[in-house]
Amino acid sequence: MGKRSATGGFDPSGIDAEAWDELEGQLEATIPNYDRVNTWMTFGQDRRWRRNVRNHATPGMRVLEVGCGPGSFAEDLVGLDVTCLDPSSDMLAAAQPRVDSARAKRGETPAVYVEAVAEDIPLPDDTFDMVFCLFSFRDFKDKRKGLEEIYRVLKPGGRLVMCDAGKANKLHGWLGYLWMNSAVQVMARLITGEKNHPWKGLAKSYTHYGTNGYYRRMMREVGYEHVQGRLLYPFGMASRFRGTKPQK
Ligand SMILES: C[S@@+](CC[C@H](N)C(=O)[O-])C[C@H]1O[C@@H](n2cnc3c(N)ncnc32)[C@H](O)[C@@H]1O
Repeated sequence: MGKRSATGGFDPSGIDAEAWDELEGQLEATIPNYDRVNTWMTFGQDRRWRRNVRNHATPGMRVLEVGCGPGSFAEDLVGLDVTCLDPSSDMLAAAQPRVDSARAKRGETPAVYVEAVAEDIPLPDDTFDMVFCLFSFRDFKDKRKGLEEIYRVLKPGGRLVMCDAGKANKLHGWLGYLWMNSAVQVMARLITGEKNHPWKGLAKSYTHYGTNGYYRRMMREVGYEHVQGRLLYPFGMASRFRGTKPQK
């Protein structure tokens, strides 16, 4: 039996098709409580992390969010030409009214919505000044392919900024595992009022996620330069990665 099948279909490089379909179902089931559980389980730090990532963009840029989910990040992208991509039609249906009504209040045109996976982005080469991934990289079926596709759609000199679960090393990962499998489970149960809430399965995508060093190496191998990937403080529960597509 391969190493990945021994973990139910997950390893740091990606997720098997069947396990990913199950994971997508669990992610969709989080939609009604998504923001509340995130805020509780991160002590409100998720808003700070989103702001940190968002602040990399400058007005007028053409940006893509890969794995936009219900629009928690994209709704606050101000003064930008925004494309939201997600493989889930339910996620896009939740994101669209939320993001576009925030944009309309600011006098901005609606965002563009694309139903697709990161591993096969149906958009032309050299299109975006910046690509964001927030808490979606962990769910990619094939992390390297996703990074390659993002690289392809970035303009030369364009930048990828990602934020996901923090895992500095194996020990830190073990502490995160304890957190995800204890306190987060209690919080999700309290908030959803359900014994069988979707966060039960979601802990798996953290357990089998790789360390920062693993993904920094993968980004360099794909061709990104100026690659960085470090924990975000104060709690070190999230990591931020940055990499630039070289100028031609
Ligand atoms: C936890 S949500 C993140 C939502 C949002 N980005 C945020 O800031 O909270 C993860 C999202 O990644 C999407 N996703 C899962 N696999 C993906 C893939 N292979 N390519 C792109 N997005 C994916 C899921 O459908 C889900 O909407």
